Amino acid sequence: MKLLFSVTVLSTLVLLGLALPLQHEERSALGRPLRFAKDGTFQISIFEDLHYGENAWESWGPQQDIWSNYVINQVLDAESQQLVVLNGDLITGENTYLENSTDYLDEIVAPFVQRDLSWASTYGNHDSDYNLSRSNILAHERRYHNARTTQMVFGREAGVSNYYLPIYPHKKSSTPSLLLWFFDSRGGFYYQEQNATGDRVGQPDWVDQSVVDWFTATNQELTDEHGGPIPSLAFVHIPTYASQVLQTEAKVKKHYQPGINDDYPLAPQAQGWCADGANDGSCEYGGQDGAFMEAIASTPGMMALFSGHDHGDTWCYKWETQLPGMTVAGNGVNLCFGQHSGYGGYGTWTRGSRQVLIREEMINDIDNLAVETWIRLENQKVVGSVTLNSTYGQDRYPATKNTHTECPTCE
Ligand SMILES: *[C@@H]1O[C@H](CO)[C@@H](O)[C@H](O)[C@H]1NC(C)=O
Ligand SMILES: *[C@@H]1O[C@H](CO)[C@@H](O)[C@H](O)[C@H]1NC(C)=O
Ligand SMILES: *[C@@H]1O[C@H](CO)[C@@H](O)[C@H](O)[C@H]1NC(C)=O
Ligand SMILES: *[C@@H]1O[C@H](CO)[C@@H](O)[C@H](O)[C@H]1NC(C)=O
Repeated sequence: MKLLFSVTVLSTLVLLGLALPLQHEERSALGRPLRFAKDGTFQISIFEDLHYGENAWESWGPQQDIWSNYVINQVLDAESQQLVVLNGDLITGENTYLENSTDYLDEIVAPFVQRDLSWASTYGNHDSDYNLSRSNILAHERRYHNARTTQMVFGREAGVSNYYLPIYPHKKSSTPSLLLWFFDSRGGFYYQEQNATGDRVGQPDWVDQSVVDWFTATNQELTDEHGGPIPSLAFVHIPTYASQVLQTEAKVKKHYQPGINDDYPLAPQAQGWCADGANDGSCEYGGQDGAFMEAIASTPGMMALFSGHDHGDTWCYKWETQLPGMTVAGNGVNLCFGQHSGYGGYGTWTRGSRQVLIREEMINDIDNLAVETWIRLENQKVVGSVTLNSTYGQDRYPATKNTHTECPTCE
C-alpha cells in the first residue's frame, strides 16, 4: 500500500515535470563539492566523440551504441576515477528524430549512474542539429543528480556548456586546489531553424567572445578571492588553431608527443568560416578562435586544454612559442587530444579514454605544475602514458602503436 502510494505520488510529480529536480536537490552533484581523495589524488576519465544515435533504422546503428557502452564499462572497470568528462559529440544529431533525440543520454550515462559516478559534459558540433539542441541535452542531463554539467553564460552566441567546477582538497577548505573549466565550441546547426530555401542554419564553431570575457573576469575574481591563481585544466570539444600549427609547423614527434597523428592537418575551431563571418565554403579558417587562444595562453596556472573532434589525433603538445602565422604565443600550456571513445563517428582507431591524474603534491607550486595522463584502451591496455611537467616535449617516451578495431571482439 505504502509503496503503491509513493509510486503514485512519484508518477504524478513526474507528470508535472517536477519529480527529479526537486527530489534530488539536496543530493544534486552541484551541491556536493568534488574533493581530492584521501591519498591526495584526483582522477578524471574523458570520453569523447561517442556519437550515439546513428541510423536507428538499421541494425548497425544501435549495435554501435551497445559497443560504445562496452568501451565505457571496460575503462571504468580498469580505472578509479572521481569524475567523468564527456568531451563533446555525445550524440550524432543529424541522425536523430525530434521526439527522442536526447534519450540517447540515458544509454550513455547508465554506467556512471550504476557506479554513482558524477560527470560533466561539453557539447560538440554534432550535439546541435535540426532535431537536437544543446539546451535539451542539458535539461535531460539535469534529470540525474550525478550530472555536474551546467550553464554559466547565456545568449544565442554563447553556446550552452560553459561553466567551471572547483575541486577541493581532501581536508575541508574553502579554497579549491584545482579548477576545471568547460568551454562550448558550438558548431553544427541551430535547432528547428531553416533559412528561406529550407536549409539548416549553421552555428559558428568557435568559443564565443562573450564566453572568453566571462572566463577572464571569473578567473580574475577567483584569483582575487583566494589570494593567487589556482591550478586549472580546461575542456573544449573542437581544438584551437594552435594545435593545427603545432602539428604542421612544429611537427608531432612519436617519442616526444606519443600518440596517433592521422588527422593531418587537423580540423580546428573556425574551420570553414571566413574572417568576415561568411560561411559559404569559400574559406578554410576564419581566425575567430584568437581571443580564446589568447585567454588560455595567458592564464597563470592553466596546465592543459583537452579536446576531441579529430578522432585520428591522440597526442599532447606543450605550446611554448610564437608559431609561424600566429599572433598568439604559447606559455607552456599543453594542448591534448583524448581517444575516440565511441563506435559511432568516423574511424576505426582502437576506442579508449584519456585519463588525467592530478596529485596534490604536483600542483602545490603554481610555478612548477605537473599532471599525469595516459590512454586506457577498450582492451584495457594502457598507451601514451606521459607526465605533463616542465620538461614535457624533451622527455623521451615509447611511441604509441597505431591500432584499429572493427568491434570489441574483432581484434
Ligand atoms: C527530424 O525528426 C522528424 C520527426 O521525427 C523526422 O521526420 C525527420 O526526418 C528528422 N529530420 C532530420 C533532418 O533528421
Ligand atoms: C527514437 O525513435 C526511433 C524511431 O521510433 C527509434 O528507432 C529509436 O530507437 C528511438 N531512440 C531512442 C533512444 O529511444
Ligand atoms: C540556405 O542555406 C544553404 C546552405 O548553406 C545555402 O546554399 C542557401 O543559399 C541559403 N539560402 C538563403 C536564402 O540564404
Ligand atoms: C618530467 O616527467 C618525466 C617522466 O616522469 C621525468 O622523466 C622528468 O624528469 C620530469 N621532469 C622534471 C623537471 O621533473
